[in-house]
Amino acid sequence: MGENRYLTFALTKGRLAGQTMSLLEQIGIPCEKMTEKDSRRLVFVNEELSLKFFLAKGPDVPTYVEYGAADIGVVGKDELLEEGRRVYEVLDLGFGRCRMCVCGPEKARELLKHHERIRVATKYPVIAKDYFYNRKHQTVDIIKLNGSVELGPIVGLSDVIVDIVETGSTLRENGLEVLEEICPLSARMIVNRVSMQMENERIKDIILRLRRLLEQTAQDFPQDQTGEKKA
Ligand code: PRP
Repeated sequence: MGENRYLTFALTKGRLAGQTMSLLEQIGIPCEKMTEKDSRRLVFVNEELSLKFFLAKGPDVPTYVEYGAADIGVVGKDELLEEGRRVYEVLDLGFGRCRMCVCGPEKARELLKHHERIRVATKYPVIAKDYFYNRKHQTVDIIKLNGSVELGPIVGLSDVIVDIVETGSTLRENGLEVLEEICPLSARMIVNRVSMQMENERIKDIILRLRRLLEQTAQDFPQDQTGEKKA
């Protein structure tokens, strides 16, 4: 590959993209255009460093990286687990920390204890199925929803939900609570398997610089790299 081949990053649209750009800026990889407010642009180029960035929906980021449309991706661990794409997960970026949990009304706690056949509403059917079938050995009916999953138990669609809990305020405001914790989550850097070979030097250099920055920040702020609430 020539020196001028663009290295392409797929970033998760929204808050994760902002935090990723701020990390990349700190290791000397700026992309000013990306910070423009209210922009609807999806692709951004840093000509000087031969870098390209594009914004995609979280679940699509591992897809772009697996197929090589992006060399590097930044995405939540939740999407990585759910999508099960063949990519290298190379770095825990330490931000976007939250937890994947089974949540519901207090009365649903008993149903979980006694391994009853219950209904589980979720945006994450793969994660939910793996948790109930393989870890808890409990047969459940999984109902796929696309958002506002907390509605499930409230309107009587499901007994519990499997969803992300960050601050816990969505649960509190809807009279639900965490019943079981499945796993902690945070933003991860992923790399295409072929790119890792073909662009090894450039990619390794980025990973190394990011790792050093994260280690330094962890030393300076031992309680949390990002100032965010820890899961
Ligand atoms: C996520 C998640 C919870 C909420 C948790 O939803 O699905 O609903 O955030 O955050 P909290 O613990 O800080 O309240 P999101 O805002 O992404 O929207 P969605 O419900 O439409 O998926």
